[in-house]
Amino acid sequence: MASILNNSIAKDAIRLFGKSSSRLFCLRCERKYFLALANGTTSRRHLHESTISKHVPDFAFAFDIDGVLVRSSDPLPRAHKALSYLQSQRIPFILLTNGGGKHETERVEELSKKLEVPLDTSNFIQSHTPFADLNQYKEKTVMVVGGDEDKCRVVAERYGFKSVVTPGDILVAHPEIWPFSAHLIPSYKEHARALTRQICSNADESLRIDAIFVYNDPRDWGLDATIILDLLLSRKGILGTISSKNNDKTLPNRGYQQDSQPPLYFSNPDLWWAAKYHLPRLGQGGFREAMEGLWTAITGGREKGVELKKEIIGKPYFKTYEFAEKILNRYREELFHGQAPGKLSRVFMVGDNPESDIRGANNFESPLGTEWFSILVKTGVYEEGEPPSCEPKAIVGDVLDAVQFAVDKSGWRDIDKSDE
Ligand code: G3P
Ligand code: MG
Repeated sequence: MASILNNSIAKDAIRLFGKSSSRLFCLRCERKYFLALANGTTSRRHLHESTISKHVPDFAFAFDIDGVLVRSSDPLPRAHKALSYLQSQRIPFILLTNGGGKHETERVEELSKKLEVPLDTSNFIQSHTPFADLNQYKEKTVMVVGGDEDKCRVVAERYGFKSVVTPGDILVAHPEIWPFSAHLIPSYKEHARALTRQICSNADESLRIDAIFVYNDPRDWGLDATIILDLLLSRKGILGTISSKNNDKTLPNRGYQQDSQPPLYFSNPDLWWAAKYHLPRLGQGGFREAMEGLWTAITGGREKGVELKKEIIGKPYFKTYEFAEKILNRYREELFHGQAPGKLSRVFMVGDNPESDIRGANNFESPLGTEWFSILVKTGVYEEGEPPSCEPKAIVGDVLDAVQFAVDKSGWRDIDKSDE
């Protein structure tokens, strides 16, 4: 018993925390202790670890990031304890954020350092991560919008998209396309790429965009909105053209977006998000609402039977939760490789935003029959005292309270009593 005990946990501890780590945290006894696991000795008092590795939890966690684990770039106080406890108990979790703007590997590295918890990309999902599966556009020319500099282009290229253009590239090549960002051209030039084709009056030679992806919160709403509108009103996504089908009453959607214009993808519907400022800040959802307003002003909008056709992913949308559940189950299989983990019965979704985290978990009907249990924390968008716009299954103080609540509810702590 003792050697199996030491070996399996020693391997886990070294895999999770590295040879010299001492950061295992025991929720039940609230005590950090130095694991002499690396050298294969441990105290009888913590026998419960062995019982745990024998028991595969039928529950897991999905943690939101902004407002739950960090506030803008600062780690929230008890985030480290919450995640390192779960790692010590081998209770699976994924990080599921509507944020993004950097490649998953870069963001995971940053977050690991901030939270002092080893993390990796196998259980990490950003708003645009599902775009990596859109293979039909990887050989086409796509426009990627949002984020700092051209970081989102780099992400798209690492997802395998071969020809990626940004609004900044277009502005640098054609400053007249949006005169009000002329003062920004010097900074755009630092990350701009030459266009494969210029915009010109000869449609056959002009630059064509086959799909538009909003990867992250746009920084220059005016420029981004103008070029997106130019593409949605164009013929076949050819910049510099206007579709003759626009405003044709005989056509569906009054002829708008009926001329092979590029599809428009948004990765994050959040109107507000919890940043450093004490009040929530506008997010990508704010930009989309502005686009909706412009589209209505241009086309007449719903009154004229016109809608802005788009695809939105991110929390609370079904596709993002389905994607997250797939990733969580794959991660769980790997974590309990060879132990036949069985069905995942419940996922605790811990979030700060009623409109995305909570609504998404409440509405998600898992194709696998897993229950998604929503827990709202008070460390982000949600302000204590106001009724949440979407009712969670539980409201707690912070992420560690959420973990404590969930493991108690799952009766996890009781395992070793039954074994003793
Ligand atoms: O831009 C990020 C923000 O919308 C929310 O991120 O981690 O709270 O889903 P998160
Ligand atoms: Mg959040």
